[in-house]
Amino acid sequence: MEKKILLLLLFALVVIKGCSGAVNQNQYQQQNKKKPSGVGVIGSSVVFPIRGNVYPDGYFYTVLLMGNPPKPYYFDIDTGSDLTWLQCDAPCVSCSKVPHPLYRPNKNGLIFCSDPVCASLHTPENYKCLKPNEQCDYEVEYADQASSLGVLVRDVFPLRFTNGSLLGPRLAFGCGYDQQVSSATVSPTDGVLGLGNGKSSIVSQLRNMGLIQNVIGHCFSGRGGGFMFFGDDLVPSQRVVWTPMSKSSSHKHYSPGLAELLFGKQSTGVKNLLVIFDSGSSYTYFTSEAYRAVISSVRKDLTGKPLKVTDDDSLPVCWKGPKPFKSIRDVKKYFNSFVLSFADGKKAQLELPPEAYLIITVHGNVCLGILNGTEVGLQDINILGDISLQDRMVIYDNEKQQIGWVAADCNRLPKSGKSVDHDDEDWSQPWTFNTGILQEQSAGIDTL
Ligand SMILES: *[C@@H]1O[C@H](CO)[C@@H](O)[C@H](O)[C@H]1NC(C)=O
Ligand SMILES: *[C@@H]1O[C@H](CO)[C@@H](O)[C@H](O)[C@H]1NC(C)=O
Repeated sequence: MEKKILLLLLFALVVIKGCSGAVNQNQYQQQNKKKPSGVGVIGSSVVFPIRGNVYPDGYFYTVLLMGNPPKPYYFDIDTGSDLTWLQCDAPCVSCSKVPHPLYRPNKNGLIFCSDPVCASLHTPENYKCLKPNEQCDYEVEYADQASSLGVLVRDVFPLRFTNGSLLGPRLAFGCGYDQQVSSATVSPTDGVLGLGNGKSSIVSQLRNMGLIQNVIGHCFSGRGGGFMFFGDDLVPSQRVVWTPMSKSSSHKHYSPGLAELLFGKQSTGVKNLLVIFDSGSSYTYFTSEAYRAVISSVRKDLTGKPLKVTDDDSLPVCWKGPKPFKSIRDVKKYFNSFVLSFADGKKAQLELPPEAYLIITVHGNVCLGILNGTEVGLQDINILGDISLQDRMVIYDNEKQQIGWVAADCNRLPKSGKSVDHDDEDWSQPWTFNTGILQEQSAGIDTL
């Protein structure tokens, strides 16, 4: 049975369309100047369980409840884009087969182009709002050619906070009625959860309501599953390697700036790599030069070892051993670690051990999970995808403008120490507040 693997590359290239006017931009800025009441003393967060894996699924996703009564939807977790959207019956022009019935917007949820959140989605040049009560259109295109076109709407998101409160903030998101997908017509998720640093993200909206700090964390387990959080409650106070978010990058993505690539302890000679953290990408993509260095370093290092180059339909570069490999543990001894050494701040280093750049396929081969970004049109950008983000907590602190990482057991929730299993029951565990259990309680939600 041939299984085509999913190569997601959710990395927003452009968000366009819509409405303008300096007037609306100013309105937005003014609104933002007001400090949300309570920020600074906010000590609450929201935690979500995560499902999925790098291989064979190719994505990590979470469930969000939306609407009243709340209904569950699956979302790809994507730090490479800002807008959260889902496939939508508005009615739908082009939708894939998704896990849940299509979301149906209600009429009074429609967002007009005069709404500040609409302006925040667009660059001033392409934001036109001629009639204030025109709908707010959006279009987002991803690096893998997938795209979504739709309108911005608002609805209730029932959320259980770590302090025990259950709230139902009304958040803006995209109702996508025209999707282009790169490969399959069946989509394993209903939409994309955009966790980028733009003002339109739902985390930024929660921050402006004074509910949480604009801090996002994710922890993907190499065994599959994991957890994610909004707010700063779960950020460890120690051991985290912090590096400033790069401002020099012209791209509005999470980047710790420029890095040098090392193999073992030695430089590969490749420097000034612009690195971006993108949880919406299954694998890691390097520019052609760095990719070439990766391949030649690994090849050189494999001489004399019992691994032979082989073809595998999963990924372009693979090796086989004397007998099929069962897990990464079987090959770890043959491969060295890569290290990304960042120039900014305190010379932060991000180690990529074999399990952060290799997978074992169903055929028992070991394949390179670093791909040629130049081939897919990424130009000078290097993307660290899920494969390289596993088994550590990665924190995007938009308040302090820094990115941090620390080794972690992602199958365990920090502090509580509760384990995260992967069976279906998991979604209703007490700590997994943001799940089906809310359905019964929705009557008691305070909508904001
Ligand atoms: C819990 O946190 C939420 C979000 O910050 C806040 O609105 C609520 O008042 C808090 N509840 C309690 C009981 O402190
Ligand atoms: C990466 O892709 C580009 C564009 O297809 C190609 O020119 C280049 O040779 C590739 N690099 C390597 C090392 O294969």
